[in-house]
Amino acid sequence: MSHTKPRRALEPSKPPAAAPRARGGSGTTHSPKRDRILVAYSSRLGSTAEIAACIGRVLSEAGAAVDVKAIDQVDGLEGYSRVVVGSAIRYDRWLSDAREFVTAHRQALSDVPVALFFTCLAMAKPEGAAKAASYAKGLCKLLPGANEAEVGRFAGVLSFSKAPRLTRMALRVISWVTGVEEGDHRDWDAIRAWSEGLFRGPVPKAPPN
Ligand SMILES: Cc1cc2nc3c(=O)[nH]c(=O)nc-3n(C[C@H](O)[C@H](O)[C@H](O)COP(=O)(O)O)c2cc1C
Repeated sequence: MSHTKPRRALEPSKPPAAAPRARGGSGTTHSPKRDRILVAYSSRLGSTAEIAACIGRVLSEAGAAVDVKAIDQVDGLEGYSRVVVGSAIRYDRWLSDAREFVTAHRQALSDVPVALFFTCLAMAKPEGAAKAASYAKGLCKLLPGANEAEVGRFAGVLSFSKAPRLTRMALRVISWVTGVEEGDHRDWDAIRAWSEGLFRGPVPKAPPN
């Protein structure tokens, strides 16, 4: 959590980490034996996309083959042994395409380990933690078995200049109501720490056909 003056974001400008070869695989060929992870995200103004990219980097540094994709670019879940799904919060909920994605793939997601996360401004202030907990609770309703405590909750970005005019007005209201200042509130150490804790166990066996 960032409770101090917003810092300059450093993580997105880092060069992508070289992905070590995952066990049981070589090159980029899809193989059911290989630990292939999908990081699917929904982002309107880009901050969640950059968080998803960071999560992908951490997972590939740990040896997995990782695809980081906007939800509207995901064709299906076949071939993935684990899945991460995240979205920006707007008006107290995940974006609609993220909600629809989890609902549409609920059966397939119940067959593999899944991690959920969200980006919001509530997390930019200590007093927003209860609000963020309610977001975690709400989105776990989409996926039976999801554990609220494990949901990644990250502070996002409040940028008036990046937003279209109507969105800018909404952001000014949010800033006024919450007291969150304009700036990049993302805490890359917290994002990396959460990512490093993901999927510690062995690659799950593919479900029987
Ligand atoms: C129209 C709008 C509504 C938002 N609603 C909320 C909200 O209800 N709660 C919250 O904590 N943050 C809210 N935010 C803040 C966003 O979650 C935050 O800016 C996030 O970093 C945006 O992610 P993105 O850059 O991936 O779109 C809202 C932002 C906008 C533009």
